[in-house]
Amino acid sequence: MKSLTTTELRALFLRFFGERGHTIIPSASLIPENDPTVLFTTAGMHPLMPYLMGAAHPAGVRLADVQKCVRTGDIDEVGDASHLTFFEMLGNFSFGDYFKDDAIAWAWELVTKEFGLPKDRLAVTVFHNDDEAYNIWKKVAGLPDDRIIRIATKDNFWQMGDTGPCGPCSEIFYDHGPEVWGGLPGTPEEDGDRWIEIWNLVFDQFEDLPDGSRIPLKQKCIDTGMGLERLAVVVQDVDSIFDVDTIQALRNKVCEISGKEYDKDHETDVSIRLITDHIRSATFMISDGIMPTNEGRGYVLRRLIRRAARHGRKLGIDGAFLAELSKTVISESKDGYPELEEKKEFILNVLNKE
Ligand code: GLY
Repeated sequence: MKSLTTTELRALFLRFFGERGHTIIPSASLIPENDPTVLFTTAGMHPLMPYLMGAAHPAGVRLADVQKCVRTGDIDEVGDASHLTFFEMLGNFSFGDYFKDDAIAWAWELVTKEFGLPKDRLAVTVFHNDDEAYNIWKKVAGLPDDRIIRIATKDNFWQMGDTGPCGPCSEIFYDHGPEVWGGLPGTPEEDGDRWIEIWNLVFDQFEDLPDGSRIPLKQKCIDTGMGLERLAVVVQDVDSIFDVDTIQALRNKVCEISGKEYDKDHETDVSIRLITDHIRSATFMISDGIMPTNEGRGYVLRRLIRRAARHGRKLGIDGAFLAELSKTVISESKDGYPELEEKKEFILNVLNKE
């Protein structure tokens, strides 16, 4: 396995797909442009839904990007070692161009050759009746039958919501080793942390309509999603997302400001992780023009800032500290998102005022 920083992983992913004919597009805003039904961009494919459904994208039919995402559904779980409200999603997309053959072959090449993950620590799933994907995995990866697992549930049928593009998907799982409790997907122990999904390849073939019907898409498409922070856990061989390089730098800053040590006391760790998570989300939200308010996405931002401030008090921090932490978010992420540096003063002002 190669040790790569988060910045290197992001660049490697984009270079790999750029070399395979993909146009690299910048991340869309966290404020969804094409979807008034949700508050935030929640997946890499989210801003690209119109193009999956047949509209012509100005940058072509093969794209790759790193999309900023916010999922606040699990806000109450933040504080454990595996949930983030803000994350980056790596994705490659085909709008009626290549399909399962190339998507699977490139995913396998990237994961095993470029990231250097050992084959014996990988398993994949396919939708239960997707013989085509099963056979491609067999040919491309040469995995044994018990490492290409057929799953009949919605875990292997991607739908972002009730409407829009959808289809069977195939996920790549990484084995964190026998010392971690858990089992392969489809087994009773699948919810453990041993086998963790790192990449979801979606074979969009259908569109769900508001009346509940499902029709074939005009064109077959590929949409993939790989969480950068989760990937970094694997490639950097660390215990949790709070230990990957960029997030650890922020976590350490929280410890420095509070004078607390990480990994000594459970309750202290929850507060440290929560502040680390929330200030990342808040920084990116403000840079996309979201302001703390009493409704909608502004209210989510306000809750994140206030929750982080409250946990700061719990750790014994006096006075305003979130702007100071935000500087670390900006310095750790500005290579991927130069706009953070450009809007630095604005972001810090909003945080200080709130
Ligand atoms: N659209 C694939 C994913 O977000 O997992």
